[in-house]
Amino acid sequence: MKNTIVGLFCFISLFSCAQERKAGSGLNFNPDKYEIQILTYNDKEIRVRAFEKIVYVEKPVDTTYQVLNFYVPEEYYRNKSINGYNAQNAPIFFPNQVGGYMPAEPGSTKLNNFRPPINGGVVKDNNQQRPQGGLEDKKENTILKALSHGYVVASAGARGRTNKNKDGKYYGKAPAGLVDLKAAIRYLKLNDREMPGNADKIISNGTSAGGAMSALLGATGDNPDYLPYLKEIGAAETSDAIYASSDYCPITNLDHADAAYEWQFFGVNDYKKGGLFGPQADTATETLNERQQKVSLELKNTFPAYINSLKLKDEKGNLLTLDNSGNGSFKEFLKAKVIVSANVALKAGTDLSERPFLIIKNGIVTDINWDEYIRYMQRQKTPPAFDALDLSAAENTEFGTESFDAKHFTEYSLKNTTVSNAVIADKQIVKMMNPMNYIGDAHTKTAKYWRIRHGSKDKDTGLAISAILAVRLANQCYHVDYALPWDKHHSGDYDLDELFHWIDQISK
Ligand code: DHB
Repeated sequence: MKNTIVGLFCFISLFSCAQERKAGSGLNFNPDKYEIQILTYNDKEIRVRAFEKIVYVEKPVDTTYQVLNFYVPEEYYRNKSINGYNAQNAPIFFPNQVGGYMPAEPGSTKLNNFRPPINGGVVKDNNQQRPQGGLEDKKENTILKALSHGYVVASAGARGRTNKNKDGKYYGKAPAGLVDLKAAIRYLKLNDREMPGNADKIISNGTSAGGAMSALLGATGDNPDYLPYLKEIGAAETSDAIYASSDYCPITNLDHADAAYEWQFFGVNDYKKGGLFGPQADTATETLNERQQKVSLELKNTFPAYINSLKLKDEKGNLLTLDNSGNGSFKEFLKAKVIVSANVALKAGTDLSERPFLIIKNGIVTDINWDEYIRYMQRQKTPPAFDALDLSAAENTEFGTESFDAKHFTEYSLKNTTVSNAVIADKQIVKMMNPMNYIGDAHTKTAKYWRIRHGSKDKDTGLAISAILAVRLANQCYHVDYALPWDKHHSGDYDLDELFHWIDQISK
């Protein structure tokens, strides 16, 4: 809701606008369809207008998922402000609930912040047997906290890789989930005048596959590649570009993630499926077999060429590269980020004495034994970590189609497949699911502000993946706040005070 037009002009403009939309668009926001929710945050009552389950496309396929929950602090209807924000200028916080590339319902003020469990709480895919999404650090409802902070909140649901209709056809394979979230952004933009909050300040947030979605929303704004898909579901014909993207441990850049994982974990042959917090904490340690070790070596060997092709540069303009053995300035750059993270923890009083891989001198972490650090992290996935040779990874089914549940999405895995009739996904779809392909592209409005977090103990994907994303963005002159929070596992929303501080800085 922007305060740009006043008086008579406003009346005329709103009128003609409403006329326009009536012709052909069932996507008008209904300001009267809400309930008042009386909620409590930090022992303080907070009243919220809740507009729930708004169908955000004209031709929905599944209204369990293609719906939006929209929440506004009730005070904004009484001309009040919270934290310097009001109905006109409040940013719209846009958290998604996507986990594991699964279908996701929109987030709500009433849920205990947990993303929906995958396959009944445990990811059954080959590599990922752990409860989703590593949310051990989440203690409060993100949406509620955001509302109490003065943000308007919009959380959209999205189709996912397991959605199947009664004819046995899948309808949530890539890029459906992303397209849905884009369509929801479009709904907010279309109705900006009628909806509180400023749709020029949409800040997306997500964790893991949801972090990947958030990164894609940020990277791909208004790119025409997605138009046929948006048209198919009857998305509003307006912009889907967002202002800022907050991404926790994005499981992204999937077509290079296998190589990144092996570059990091090659030589660590013992693995434990899953993290420390789920039923897998008690699972036995297993060891890569010879074939898997060979795959690890082959994938690891492809990584330097990829890194070098990106021509990434550090803050001083030095090229970040790797030599054939996998060493070089890119590795040093990552090492330095881990050292910064450890120093932040040390300064905050964290006891690091049990971390012998850190070299601490005079109360400062000066170096790190990289190999020991990686061993301490522990390998979690078997190679290839994402494009599994037997098509058993979550990502294989993300790249399926209407009638194919799972596909490969790298040439390497296609070539080495163990499945007799395996096929590879359409190149264009793989392209559309990787934010790296769109950052700074001439036909794209990439978000101006980025906050990327990947826990220093998160081994769901390689550390390099978020680093590459962050550096590419910074090199293209986007504003990037990137860090590897100390000892965090695969999780998100664990530092909401800091996240909201960042949002305030970029929004006010
Ligand atoms: C998620 C985690 C993974 O390890 C993965 O491969 C895909 C998604 C998740 O938590 O969303």
